[in-house]
Amino acid sequence: MRKILVISDIHIRSIEKSIIGLSPLKQFKNALSHGQKNHPDAEHLILMGDIAHSGHIKEYELIKRAINNYQIPITFMLGNHDNRENFVKIFPEIPLTKEGHLQTVINLGNDVLICLDTLNSPPYLEGKHEGKLCTKRLEWLEQELNKIRNKRISIFTHHPPHNVGFPGMDKIKLSNSNDLFEIIKKYVNIKHIFSGHVHRTISGHTNNIGFSIFKSTCHQMPMNLISADSSLSVKEPAAYGIILFDDQSIIAHTEDYEIARQAIASSIDAMPDKL
Ligand SMILES: [Fe+2]
Ligand SMILES: [Fe+2]
Repeated sequence: MRKILVISDIHIRSIEKSIIGLSPLKQFKNALSHGQKNHPDAEHLILMGDIAHSGHIKEYELIKRAINNYQIPITFMLGNHDNRENFVKIFPEIPLTKEGHLQTVINLGNDVLICLDTLNSPPYLEGKHEGKLCTKRLEWLEQELNKIRNKRISIFTHHPPHNVGFPGMDKIKLSNSNDLFEIIKKYVNIKHIFSGHVHRTISGHTNNIGFSIFKSTCHQMPMNLISADSSLSVKEPAAYGIILFDDQSIIAHTEDYEIARQAIASSIDAMPDKL
């Protein structure tokens, strides 16, 4: 079984600034160290976008410092709160597509993970948060898919390409999701879509494919299926994702690391006849 970790919606702000009383940097560092300690066998870490809260250079510098000693390869994705140009200034070593987008293919045994760039900017307009995959990014995706005929594929997007039932978030999902699903339906080896953006653990099935969405390491979306406000936030426990791949299955776990006890047998109370 192969294992990767996923951290979504870090929303880094400068050290003195918080989000609803939470320090995004501290929350992120806690997730990183929890993942490293409890999952030393993870082969890869994906940061699923909204890395920075305001897209400032200083925020990317803080991220770079925080991951400085991390032991496993990291793949970065961008979200609506990011700024591609500022990201590139701080991470010039990270390759972009020839059109300048942050899209990556990760090979993991019999699985291939394709991370897409759904940031619909520049221009960076206030209050513009929906995602988009332009023609260039979709063409890149098809080119990559055509190279991978014999492996199982998972697609990673910051913006979910489907509704999630929160009216405010459904307004700012991937705006041209039909274009993506037109491609996906041609490739039967695409088996799952992973997203962030919503700041809540959600799973389901859409357009004949399974999906999983992970929480943020900072602020979460409250369970309010009526409000059209996409900025609603609540201090519920943060989480990161753990994805397992074996011959039969793709398995998505969510680890609420702030409330989780260490997964060491001796420290967990055994309950006879629990199951
Ligand atoms: Fe976010
Ligand atoms: Fe987002």
